[in-house]
Amino acid sequence: MSAPNKSYDPVEVEALKPENIERMRDEALAAFDAAADLDALAQAKTAHAGGTSPLSLANREIGALPPQAKAEAGKRVGMARGQVNKALAARQAVLEAERDERVLVEEAVDVTLPYDRVPSGARHPLTTMMERVADVFVGMGYEIAEGPEAEAEWFNFDALNFTPDHPARQMQDTFFVRGEGQEPGSREDESGIVLRTHTSPVQARTLLDREPPVYVVCPGRVYRTDELDATHTPVFHQIELLAVDEGLTMADLKGTLDHMVQALFGPDMKTRLRPNFFPFTEPSAEMDMVCYVCRGASVGNPERPCRTCGSEGWIELGGCGMVNPKVLVACGVDPEKYSGFAFGFGIERMLMFRHNVEDMRDMVEGDIRFTRPFGMEI
Ligand code: PHE
Repeated sequence: MSAPNKSYDPVEVEALKPENIERMRDEALAAFDAAADLDALAQAKTAHAGGTSPLSLANREIGALPPQAKAEAGKRVGMARGQVNKALAARQAVLEAERDERVLVEEAVDVTLPYDRVPSGARHPLTTMMERVADVFVGMGYEIAEGPEAEAEWFNFDALNFTPDHPARQMQDTFFVRGEGQEPGSREDESGIVLRTHTSPVQARTLLDREPPVYVVCPGRVYRTDELDATHTPVFHQIELLAVDEGLTMADLKGTLDHMVQALFGPDMKTRLRPNFFPFTEPSAEMDMVCYVCRGASVGNPERPCRTCGSEGWIELGGCGMVNPKVLVACGVDPEKYSGFAFGFGIERMLMFRHNVEDMRDMVEGDIRFTRPFGMEI
């Protein structure tokens, strides 16, 4: 230690007098103690430990002292500041712990309470699926066509070449709204009214309405007298396609179907046609597409069964064919000049295998827990 400084007394510098340093320290400690919360402590910190606090200002005075006096004054101020900082940290810890405890109590959430917020909904997957399919055709230049759900029997059956004794005309299959039992085959304005059993009447409406070339796609709701169960619903949806132009052939139909399944399920998809009968198409076919899950790999392979196609390798989509010339004639289109193709399929079925929906009732019950996971695809 150097000899005590006789020529200069640091005590003489007012701010550095021991009693002043002690007073500054005590005031700081008292202010911290008095701070009731973290905000108050932050203010006390600025006042007593900040850059312009009395202790900091005193600390600056040390630089002006002669070398011999610096050590003594520095030690005194340093100790005081150390005590102040320690007290500050201690008070800070206490107040933070208090706050954390209070927040836990005040902000507790009772997760068992019923919540009262209106949950955000979602578009129904049937709607988005219909729009998605329609979009594929709109992209190829097709137009959307629509028709009424309560449809003239004439459009639903007669114009489409259903014979008067066709079983679909029976009460067991069709909802009759008006004039049930009326003479079948009577013209549109005199015919009965049914809830349309398919979207095909829009074919006839469109052909009466427009001059070929006609390229339309028609999504819509249809009705049949089925009981609601896991695989049937009396109200369901179809999407119908109609193209009438010069020189259209079955090859155009096949190419259009392939394009559709590729757009919806992936580039390597394809379809196949199996002979069938519909009164309004000739020839008619059932259309299948390759199972988009196993791609046929499950066929004859018990090691790798496929739930989606039942190990068939193909999934049945719907019906199709070349528009029957009788329909063209009934709608005033010259079958010598024009030919056309049409197809139609059920949206519910497509939703079932595309999204593994196992029970059709889920689609009609309106429970948003079903629709919400499909998101808000627009
Ligand atoms: N309308 C037919 C049905 O509901 C499907 C179909 C549409 C068949 C167009 C051929 C052409 O089963």
